[in-house]
Amino acid sequence: MALLEIGASAGLCLHPDRWDYTWHLPTGEMSTDHGAAGRLTCEVTGPVPGPEVWPDGPLPVAWRGGLDLAPVDVIDDDQVAWLETLVWPEHDDRRARLRTAVEVARTDPPAVVTADLAAPAGLDRLDGLVEEAGRHGRVVVMHSAVTAYLPVAARQVLEQRLRGLVAAGRAHWLSNEGKRVHPAVTATGPSVPDDLATFVLGLDGQAVAWTHGHGRSMRWVAPR
Ligand SMILES: C[S@@+](CC[C@H](N)C(=O)[O-])C[C@H]1O[C@@H](n2cnc3c(N)ncnc32)[C@H](O)[C@@H]1O
Repeated sequence: MALLEIGASAGLCLHPDRWDYTWHLPTGEMSTDHGAAGRLTCEVTGPVPGPEVWPDGPLPVAWRGGLDLAPVDVIDDDQVAWLETLVWPEHDDRRARLRTAVEVARTDPPAVVTADLAAPAGLDRLDGLVEEAGRHGRVVVMHSAVTAYLPVAARQVLEQRLRGLVAAGRAHWLSNEGKRVHPAVTATGPSVPDDLATFVLGLDGQAVAWTHGHGRSMRWVAPR
């Protein structure tokens, strides 16, 4: 796959192939063990899909790249120190994971270009990156905790652009945003209880899971 993250910041989510994973499933634990630098764990509930969705080897990432309004240079110690200030003081586990993610990213720093997703020029940049990525593999455009920062009108324009890429077979679209950020995606799954503050993981516009904003858990959901 060719992985393109929009709102990538320092690009720390662009190395899913350099991590091991442990999923705590209702039926027990499932883990990968490739001797990766770090391990990501997640509590998994709901109608868990069959074994075909769980990777049994490192994910095949042939190309990685990103864009952001204000990219963080993962090589720059000052910029990384600033990133650390964003982790809440009591979240020691997140701070440790962030440090591991920085180490991992520094072994192969991804190019994260400056672009504004709320501006036509930024969307053209996205299009150019999809074109470039498509020369290396099946393109996956992903974003997590990003589109909420866009004005609603710009968010809708971006969503249409991403749906267009999917419809044209140019990319898959993986979204992980708060439940009210892309209402049309959220609405393809079961209705989210009012008192549940959750992110919704969407694949090509279809809600596939309700997720914790920092990835601690996911609850698979059936299509509505
Ligand atoms: C909460 S951070 C999430 C970073 C990363 N996706 C992650 O999960 O760690 C939000 C990111 O969105 C970026 N962002 C906000 N508005 C943007 C815009 N209009 N165009 C591009 N990126 C934007 C910010 O610069 C920031 O890096």
